[in-house]
Amino acid sequence: MENKKKVEELQKRAEEAQMGGGEQAIAKQKAMGKLTARERILLLVDEGSFHEYDLFVEHDVRDFGMQSKKLAGDGVIIGTGTVYGSPIAIFAQDFTVAGGSLGSMHARKITKIMDYALRMRMPLVGINDSGGARIQEGVNSLAGYGEIFFRNTLNSGVIPQISVILGPCAGGAVYSPALTDFVFVVENISKMFITGPEVIKTVLGEEISMEELGGARVHSEVTGNAHFFAKNENECFDQIKKLITFIPWHNQRKALAFDPAEPKAEYKIDNIVPEDPTKPYDVRNVIRAVVDDSDFFEIQELWAANIVIGFGRLNGETVGFVANQPMVMAGVLDCDSADKAARFIRYCDAFNIPIVTFEDLPGYLPGVDQEHAGVIRHGAKMLYAYSEATVPKITIILRKAYGGGYIAMNSRHLRADFVFAWPHAEIAVMGPEGAANIIFKKEITEAEDPNEMRKLKVAEYREKFANPYVAASKGYIDSVIKPQDTRKFLLHALKVSISKNAQMPPRKHGIPPF
Ligand code: HXC
Repeated sequence: MENKKKVEELQKRAEEAQMGGGEQAIAKQKAMGKLTARERILLLVDEGSFHEYDLFVEHDVRDFGMQSKKLAGDGVIIGTGTVYGSPIAIFAQDFTVAGGSLGSMHARKITKIMDYALRMRMPLVGINDSGGARIQEGVNSLAGYGEIFFRNTLNSGVIPQISVILGPCAGGAVYSPALTDFVFVVENISKMFITGPEVIKTVLGEEISMEELGGARVHSEVTGNAHFFAKNENECFDQIKKLITFIPWHNQRKALAFDPAEPKAEYKIDNIVPEDPTKPYDVRNVIRAVVDDSDFFEIQELWAANIVIGFGRLNGETVGFVANQPMVMAGVLDCDSADKAARFIRYCDAFNIPIVTFEDLPGYLPGVDQEHAGVIRHGAKMLYAYSEATVPKITIILRKAYGGGYIAMNSRHLRADFVFAWPHAEIAVMGPEGAANIIFKKEITEAEDPNEMRKLKVAEYREKFANPYVAASKGYIDSVIKPQDTRKFLLHALKVSISKNAQMPPRKHGIPPF
């Protein structure tokens, strides 16, 4: 009887704690179009798989009238669960409890689950919905953030870290998501900024809404801080679940393999790249034409769209794709696209994911803006990332491979394992037009018909250098292949690279051009 009572008491305590900030606060949360922290977790994990820890944690703050305030779970839920059977660790800030503000016990719960995730080697998903440092707790909440940032850094490259921004994530709090691998945002719900509209108004006298300053679109299209944009929370959790199927549990494992599947017949690889080298096309269709089931999961789709990154599968195994996008700015490299690709390459390398590069670019974006924005430093990140990556690296040159772009896009010289080129590839120091204008300047200007002479010289240059056979004659590319054989070559290259063992020289760490 006594035991039964105790179980009933547990039940009552648990129900109370699980009520979060109470009915009124929950109604306010819903009115903002947001789910509660608990609903979010249940949307993410396999049914019945969530196990919560530290439900009964309480804060011990006595200042500012806090001693009489009971904060359920101290405003954050932590636990473990599974997603399609794979283990994950989760924390979800509960905005209905003191605005999800981060006090010392709140931070201790988050760091506890981060430590579990690292010790047990499983991905960590953090759902952020918080007014930031709990003002009443002063430096203790700042200390909490520091402890979280330290662990984000420690976990980096060991376990996947995923951040979901489902409400405000303000001030220094933004640095935890920024230190993680993937950031998910939802339209009208996510708000991320260092200094909010109030501060901007006070200091600069400028009026700006939270949405315009750091809403989901801003971070997906302008800053590049977000990797996935969703219209609503349901779509967001579907995206997270899909991502989890592509990545491994930790850096000593490979991602789970799926049943192999052929690409869909509607993606005909021969028909995608136009014959005219000046015509654009969507390189994502080339990827879809080679990956299993034509299922390409794009990352940072809305930012720096002149380069495409994302995951697909070849013969059931996860592969990371990096591809110039001729449809956007002719696929040139610039500061943002170099940053985007470099980070993704490092992600793939850290988590044993082979990298396939599709190349078609006229080079780097020229201009004062780019030079002054530091295109030298940003572009160097990509060279660094490809060079240091030791996972299998395969390049297919689809069309143009000019100048620095040829080197940067995982060339043989940066230790690509395999480089293949399609027959109409043009591999040269620069495009035929520019090259002919420089090296045949005299002939062109002195000709009776300079335009006709220019055409002749461009054709002469293209014939001589802008083809794949000069590079093939030096062994810089391994084979010139028919477009329709691309998947076959990729599958074989991956198969024979399965035991690849390349090492970097021993060192504490390199110094990439961050
Ligand atoms: C304590 C907080 C809080 C905070 C919100 N609340 N933020 N309590 N510390 N930081 C409480 C409110 O008092 C309120 O409690 C409840 O949460 C809901 O907040 P509302 O303001 O009613 O909600 P809303 O109108 O939706 O506005 C949300 C908000 C706003 C925009 C986030 O609350 C806000 O501006 N908060 C302060 C943001 C901030 O400046 N944080 C500190 C940043 S500095 P009651 O009891 O009334 O329901 C920082 C440094 C970190 O984070 C550095 C790390 C290196």
